[in-house]
Amino acid sequence: MNTLIRLSLALLAMAMLAANSIAAASVEPYILTPPAPASPRINGASVFGVRPGSPFLFTIAATGDRPMSFSAQNLPQGLKLDPATGRITGALAMKGEHIVMLGAKNSRGSVEKKFRIVCGDQIALTPPMGWNSWNCFAQEVSADRVKAAANVLVKSGLANHGWTYVNIDDFWQNNRGSDDPTLHGPFRDTNGFVLPNARFPDMKGLADYVHGLGLKIGLYSSPGPWTCGGCAGSFGHEQQDAQTYAKWGFDYFKYDWCSYGGICDGKAATDDSISSWDAGEKGKSDVEAATHPFRLMGKFLREQKRDIVFSVCEYGMSEVWKWGASVDGNCWRTTWDIVDTWESMSSIGFDQQNQAAPFSKPGNWNDPDMLVVGHVGWGKPHPTRLTPDEQYTHISLWCLLSAPLLIGCDMTKFDAFTLSLLTNDEVIAVDQDPLGKQATCVINDGDLRVYARDLEDGSRAVGFFNRSVKPMELSFKDFSKLGLAGKQTPRDLWRQKNLAAVNTAMGSLPLTIPAHGVVLYKFTTVK
Ligand code: GAL
Repeated sequence: MNTLIRLSLALLAMAMLAANSIAAASVEPYILTPPAPASPRINGASVFGVRPGSPFLFTIAATGDRPMSFSAQNLPQGLKLDPATGRITGALAMKGEHIVMLGAKNSRGSVEKKFRIVCGDQIALTPPMGWNSWNCFAQEVSADRVKAAANVLVKSGLANHGWTYVNIDDFWQNNRGSDDPTLHGPFRDTNGFVLPNARFPDMKGLADYVHGLGLKIGLYSSPGPWTCGGCAGSFGHEQQDAQTYAKWGFDYFKYDWCSYGGICDGKAATDDSISSWDAGEKGKSDVEAATHPFRLMGKFLREQKRDIVFSVCEYGMSEVWKWGASVDGNCWRTTWDIVDTWESMSSIGFDQQNQAAPFSKPGNWNDPDMLVVGHVGWGKPHPTRLTPDEQYTHISLWCLLSAPLLIGCDMTKFDAFTLSLLTNDEVIAVDQDPLGKQATCVINDGDLRVYARDLEDGSRAVGFFNRSVKPMELSFKDFSKLGLAGKQTPRDLWRQKNLAAVNTAMGSLPLTIPAHGVVLYKFTTVK
């Protein structure tokens, strides 16, 4: 290639980058989510799965002025409600379904909502919602930071929108090579039980603290001898580790392939040349080899006398969506790690999820990785590099995809915009819809992507996404591709407002979709 062509290509690339950043820089954060009313509103999942005999903990998520009192009619035997906190606890002895009427009351009024409790084999009947330490703190996580995160979930009001899990990722164990003294120490006790590092002096106390706030807590390990960050993994101690997590009181467990790549490719666990993070080769295509460690841990987790959501993490190798449910996985990562750029988020969200969609269902969810809104940065938090419209795209798309929603930011640094993204109950309701039907791409035309999914109430949620750096104006007529017929009322879910009804046979829908942005509607048939 001659110098002139190379120079022109470089200039073109710079111009494209500039165009991208102009689009990014020109939009200030703007809030669409209307404030929650002062009168009570019950949010969050309307179905909850529990196994017979497991400790039950469900906190009614409700917005509105405090004090608020809660009620629950037809609560089955074995469960009790604390009317002051809205926490339902106890245990159910037998399999079965129960329809309960939840109630919330304050000085501004009262409200009721139907709630279905399903006691059976399946848990995580809606995608788990919560926080995870990795995208913000990475190797800097500590018990104090986890407690602070739990406190913010409650104090910011996020818990009133259904956010529940506080998940510790890598680096609660001791590390094989770090020069940080708080990560030095024995990996296991003389009986082989895993030991936390000095930053986590009291795991049971930490779990009790989080439960005391009405929340749940999660933990992390690897099936290999080392986690990705080089901390102690579970290889050879799987049963003991499952017992330990249950004894400490954990409710969620992420199992991350990492150094198992070396084991899978035939190395001995004691072989020091096993890399902590190299996924190896065999697990990428050999389904039997890839499933083995997850099947083993899935079985040991199921043997515990508590419900532990099992999050399979092996980056989507060997089409995990086809077998994740068979190893008792409640969710499974479909992708390598997300970062806070448009390229990463949009390619994961738009390009890598469609093939997995048919395998997602209540109890078993595809996981396109954690959220990158707010202050993220893997130990060096900075404001997300996603533009405001890219963040609307991120949350809308993840909700359409029935993704587990795990906030990845330092929540002590919340700003009003980030909070507004995470507290729109009508948008969250798409993710938490009890039908559990993941959206698929129904239109892929130039820079336009349209995703649609059925909701339990018979309506359809539709996201119109613009992948270009320029706003898109449309007079949309292709309703049959959205699976819509007759007269339809669109509701703008971010603004929580109904729009004029449209006749799908001859009408059209005017749409303005911001650069890298979204219009998220719910369509209900006019009767
Ligand atoms: C990666 C995983 C991340 C995080 C990290 C911890 O493999 O995808 O989500 O858990 O390991 O080291």
